[in-house]
Formats: sequence, C-alpha cells, structure tokens
Amino acid sequence: MSAPEATAPAKFIVLGEHAAVYGQPAIAAPVSSLRAYATVSPNALALRGLHIAADDLNQLLPVQIDSDDVQSSLELVARLILRQLRLPPPDLTIHLHSDIPPASGLGSGAAVATAVARALLAALGAEMPLAVLNEIIFQGEAIYHGTPSGIDNTVIVYEQALYFIKDRPVERLTIGGRLDFMIADTGISASTKIAVGDVRRLVDADPNAVNPVLERIGEIVVRGRDAIERGDRTTLGALMNANQAELQHLTVSSPELDHLIDAALAAGAAGAKLSGGGRGGNMIALVREETAQAVTAALTRAGAVRVFSTSLHPTTIMSVP
Ligand code: MEV
Repeated sequence: MSAPEATAPAKFIVLGEHAAVYGQPAIAAPVSSLRAYATVSPNALALRGLHIAADDLNQLLPVQIDSDDVQSSLELVARLILRQLRLPPPDLTIHLHSDIPPASGLGSGAAVATAVARALLAALGAEMPLAVLNEIIFQGEAIYHGTPSGIDNTVIVYEQALYFIKDRPVERLTIGGRLDFMIADTGISASTKIAVGDVRRLVDADPNAVNPVLERIGEIVVRGRDAIERGDRTTLGALMNANQAELQHLTVSSPELDHLIDAALAAGAAGAKLSGGGRGGNMIALVREETAQAVTAALTRAGAVRVFSTSLHPTTIMSVP
C-alpha cells in the first residue's frame, strides 16, 4: 500500500453564520493556504486494524467498525467510509497534522475529518462522489456542533466559495471582482457547539424577538450575494457590519472580537465581523490593497495572536459537480 497525502482547507464565513442553522442562506469560502493533512503508513509492530494518529497531540485512536459507540468524529467518519464501501478496516495508521487552529471558527474539525477520509479512500484505492463524502463528514460534524447546518463540511469538501442553504443543492458563488480579507485570531478558543446551543436556547425562549434577527441576517446574506456578484466592496462591507450587529444580538460576539473589529474599522476596513461560531476564534475584515497593511498593523496592536490574508477571486457561473 502506498503512502498518499490527503488534505483539506480551512474555511471562513463571509456572512450568515448561526442563522444558517435555521435555514437562512449563508456565504462561506475556503482558505486554501491553511490546511489539514493526513498520510497513511503501515501499522507499528503488533498493532492490528485501522488507527488514526493525531501526531501533534500524541493520540492514537483505534477505529472500531462493528461498534456503534463513537469515540470521536474521526472514528465515525472512518467507520462510515468503510461501511459505505463495504470493506473491512485495513491494517494501517492514518497520521494527522493540521495547521488550522482548533475551536477558532475556521472549520478545523471538518477539515481534519475530510483529510482523514481522503487519506483512507486513497489508501483503499477507492473513490466517492463529493456529495456522499460531504454527507459522511456532516455526520462527523454533528458530534462537534450538535445541530450543524452543514456549511462547514460543504465548503471544505467542495473547496469552493458557496451560497449555502441547509438541505438545498450546493450553489457555487459567482464573484464579480477580487475581494481581499484579513483574518485575525483573538487567541481565545470557543466551542461552536456551545454557541449554537446558546442561540437555540435564545430562539426557544423568545422566538418573537429572535426569529426576526435570523430573518434579517438572511436578508443581509441575499444582498451580500448580490454585492459579491457585482464586486461591490463598499456595499459588502456595510452588510458585514450590519451582520455583526445582528450577531451581537444573538450574544455570539465577545469583547475581544468587538475590540479587533473596532480596530480594523478604525484602520480603514470596509467592513468587519466575527466569522464562524463566535465567542472567540477569528474575525474577518474586508480591505483594499491600500488599507491592508494599516488594518493588519491595527489588528496586531489590538492583540490579535495571528493575522493573515485571504481573497475571493472572480469566477464565472458554474454548477458544483
Ligand atoms: C460555524 O462555522 C457556522 C455556524 O453557523 C454553525 C453551523 O452553521 O453549523 C455557527
């Protein structure tokens, strides 16, 4: 058996997180420069069956194909791949390495699971339609996120900028002009599962107050799609700011996120908001070439532990395979 390297990207949410869980549209894109990797090697002596080794964490996880107990989302994903292919677990170890900070809103869980799935498929010499792989990664996500919309796994598996609506066919986003973002990390890890659960409690406690917030986010996303299609940075920036205000109503921002967002806007960003589950993790700022340096410096001064750039590049209309 060869030793293929498999990989999957991080993601960021441009607009619409949290409301996406309730069927509102959202826009997300891959961060192809930041990735999770998985390679396969023969088992160490005396080890039998399939194992997943998180070498960074010094963890070795056996994959039990016949059990319904789930130790981790990675085990579940490997098990579902084998069941789908009707194959027994091969005698090998999948080694994981990820450059994506966990619990920071960048889709680390889905990226790591996708890299593991791809390494396993490659080692078995098997292929799987992206839609089937995406469904399997989604089931793994449910362990991390409780009631995920599916946006993280979908943008990561397809590695395309997407206009996403839960349970609807995947739609690739058309991008009318280049858009540059800075992504900055508060350095605070935050559980998406807890944030999603807290929003659920808010919705249940006061649907008349909270459902309109979710609907307004959906409207922001529809207008944001139009702005992205036209390459209209000014409108998109204003919509990101409006989205951030609604996310504050949902209680998923944090003082650290707000501080970085204020710093980016004061330094000339066209718009800024949290990205992902919130409560910590990463924020994004929409910048122009002329403002990128000043925004980066301001974010670093404001305490960001890491700042990097990513861009959406113009596309033509295509359907996702
Ligand atoms: C997490 O990246 C996005 C959330 O909307 C959760 C989800 O849609 O599954 C917060």
